[in-house]
Amino acid sequence: MKDTIAIIGAGVIGGSVVKSLLKSGYEGKIIVAEIMPEKTKELEQLGVSVTTNNRDAAREADIVFLSVKPNVLKTVLKEVSREVEGKLVVSTAAAVNVKFCKRVVPKARCVRIMPNVAIMVQESFTAYCCDDDVTKEDKKKIEHILVAMGRSMEIDECYMDAVTAVSGSGPGYLSIIIEALAYGGLKVGLPRDLALTCAAQAVLGTAKLVLETEQSPAQIRDSVTTPGGTTIEAIYEVEGSEVRQALMRAVEAATKKSEKIRKQWE
Ligand SMILES: NC(=O)c1ccc[n+]([C@@H]2O[C@H](COP(=O)([O-])OP(=O)(O)OC[C@H]3O[C@@H](n4cnc5c(N)ncnc54)[C@H](OP(=O)(O)O)[C@@H]3O)[C@@H](O)[C@H]2O)c1
Repeated sequence: MKDTIAIIGAGVIGGSVVKSLLKSGYEGKIIVAEIMPEKTKELEQLGVSVTTNNRDAAREADIVFLSVKPNVLKTVLKEVSREVEGKLVVSTAAAVNVKFCKRVVPKARCVRIMPNVAIMVQESFTAYCCDDDVTKEDKKKIEHILVAMGRSMEIDECYMDAVTAVSGSGPGYLSIIIEALAYGGLKVGLPRDLALTCAAQAVLGTAKLVLETEQSPAQIRDSVTTPGGTTIEAIYEVEGSEVRQALMRAVEAATKKSEKIRKQWE
């Protein structure tokens, strides 16, 4: 695939999208448009074309990514509306639905994606949904791009608020869990680096077991729980806490917040 991709907004997500495309050896041209030129220096050094002019970037591109904050999205869409006619527009904005984008740029084919910050290490889960004009060929292109960022799946837009809560915000909650495990390591005398590596790798390895061996979390838990062993002592403590409920409530609260913000946009 050799389409020219423009990425408007080179912050956390936009910058990571660019880096993941470069890491995957993307063969087409990549252009980054960003109002703050300082932010694009690193990307420029990596060989990406940069500009401060969103319209120039969109004009030259076949596919236009918009990775600006939701409150700036409408302004940027309006700005590039002529340039994106007949093109694929991919918005990363949380809580802004496809219909909203389509209303502002009716002649573009609009895709909404919800990645997470693990794009940086090509381990995002990215859900996407499309307007009715997006073709099968477009979807193949989108999947080709999203594979560079990790796993992806087309979903019904009605699930986007919940996916935002579980996956988009997920690195926030999981960082707390990794930190808590590492602190547990510190409490029993592990050196700091060792504690953090043990904790982070345990989370990474468990996630891979779920995804790659298709074992359920319950099967993995049982497989490490020897009768009368060390793990059951720890599980007894965990089950006595409210950690499950806390995480479930966290997802529910984030979903509700996403719904509330979405309704403001609608
Ligand atoms: N961060 C996450 O974990 C995450 C996860 C999923 C989805 N998202 C969504 O992805 C989008 C980007 O999030 P982010 O965290 O990457 O935000 P961010 O770091 O603030 O990046 C947005 C970038 O766009 C730039 N920008 C602002 N106005 C612009 C304009 N008119 N033209 C071109 N560039 C402009 C900003 O520059 P200034 O800073 O100078 O304004 C900033 O560099 C958001 O809509 C968010 O909802 C984020």
